[in-house]
Amino acid sequence: MKADKLYLIGFMGAGKTTVASAVGRRIGWRPEDIDSRIEAREHRTVAAIFAEDGESYFRRVERLVLHDLLPARNVVVAAGGGTFVDPENRALMLGDGAVAWLDVPLSAVLDRIPVDGRRPLAADRPQMEELYHHRRTAYAAAHVRIDAGRPVEEVIERLLDWIGY
Ligand code: S3P
Repeated sequence: MKADKLYLIGFMGAGKTTVASAVGRRIGWRPEDIDSRIEAREHRTVAAIFAEDGESYFRRVERLVLHDLLPARNVVVAAGGGTFVDPENRALMLGDGAVAWLDVPLSAVLDRIPVDGRRPLAADRPQMEELYHHRRTAYAAAHVRIDAGRPVEEVIERLLDWIGY
């Protein structure tokens, strides 16, 4: 897939941020992180936004940040776990760049995500598991699915291959 922008989507713990930085370094594209941009814009953490203003407020800011990034080219965007789940965001992203789903097994998510309060939607484990299964249908609309349960170097190679680098 030839593209000048790459979106990495998928569940919490899929490695979106790490892979975005690594891919950016390899091909000279700027890595961007939606969660970091939300935190910079709000001058507070994702956890604080959820706690103080709720998820729907967080989703509104997330949408604004996505819009801010639309003109950017030669960037690798690490989405938040919920960014692509919103149908409007999904359509925007699919029309704007190459969208890769980093698909990680639930067992890896459970290993990788600490219950440290930094990810509000991971605090309740049964609820997180439900979210994991529920979101797969939305994630499956990505242009490609990449098995992100394997070593990160392989994930990076697979992505570079796919976008023709
Ligand atoms: C969320 C995932 C988080 C962050 C927020 C909500 C989600 O991003 O955007 O806590 O809805 O899955 P990461 O996937 O980068 O952890």
